[in-house]
Amino acid sequence: MQVYLNGEFLDQKEAAVSVADRGFVFGDGVYEVTRVVNGKFFQEEEHLVRLDEGLKGLKINLDEKIRDSIPDISRDLIKRNGLTEGEATVYLQVTRGAAFPRTHTFPDPEVPATVYLSSGPFKPHKELHEKGVEVITVPDVRWTRCNLKTVNLLPNTLARQQARDAGANSAVMIRDGVITESPNANIFAAKGGSLYTFPASNYILNGITRRVVIDIANSLNIPIITEPVRQDDLYDLDELFFTGTTTDIQPIVKVDGQNLGKGEPGEIVRSIQKEYNKRLYG
Ligand SMILES: Cc1ncc(COP(=O)(O)O)c(C=O)c1O
Repeated sequence: MQVYLNGEFLDQKEAAVSVADRGFVFGDGVYEVTRVVNGKFFQEEEHLVRLDEGLKGLKINLDEKIRDSIPDISRDLIKRNGLTEGEATVYLQVTRGAAFPRTHTFPDPEVPATVYLSSGPFKPHKELHEKGVEVITVPDVRWTRCNLKTVNLLPNTLARQQARDAGANSAVMIRDGVITESPNANIFAAKGGSLYTFPASNYILNGITRRVVIDIANSLNIPIITEPVRQDDLYDLDELFFTGTTTDIQPIVKVDGQNLGKGEPGEIVRSIQKEYNKRLYG
């Protein structure tokens, strides 16, 4: 597999960043993951806009020419790796660059941002979409700028591992008594025919898939209520599901060992999945 690093396409095994890179030392960077189906990038512009917002949020200056060439680099990468047919993902990471000696303040003079892209084949989690998944609840211990898609993912990876160790697939994170999101997906809850989702704010990543799902719900005349769901109300919900670029639309059927609703995917998630697949594969 070839990757792109700072202006060059390289064999993945040969690509290396400096030990002084602020992504390595501080987790000082942002990333995006985009789905590609038969060479077509899904919601590409939305991912690029969120990348721009992340860079702005962290005050990382990415050269404008490089920024504008990301779609071409992505397509080149997909071709080089023989991924123009079938399913694939493109991973993109931008860090503040390499600066030595290590100081918390930004490099002065400024150094070029590190730009890295990789791609690989992708297999959707069809069995999980069909049967649904089991989750555990965990405290949301992240910082309060979760709207930025930074590479600082330690609370997320720890929560995911905690879920795996408990024999569950993933986690539902709780902050101040309400459900925020999962370590790598947004959450929707259905109750009385309406869909609830945490408001787009600094407490969640405003997922690209979340936005598509809101649009789908509107087209299906399913009322959307952008309000947090209380942890105390979890077991009274009719349905709960995850949304994300690699998660797709994943029903949640069990929380902390207890069945949710009937313990099987409900009608609303099924109708959303159907529409989502049309948009992704159509
Ligand atoms: C914390 C978190 N929330 C939500 C999402 C879903 O976002 P998207 O639909 O843009 O993939 C992700 C995706 O990685 C995530 O890491």
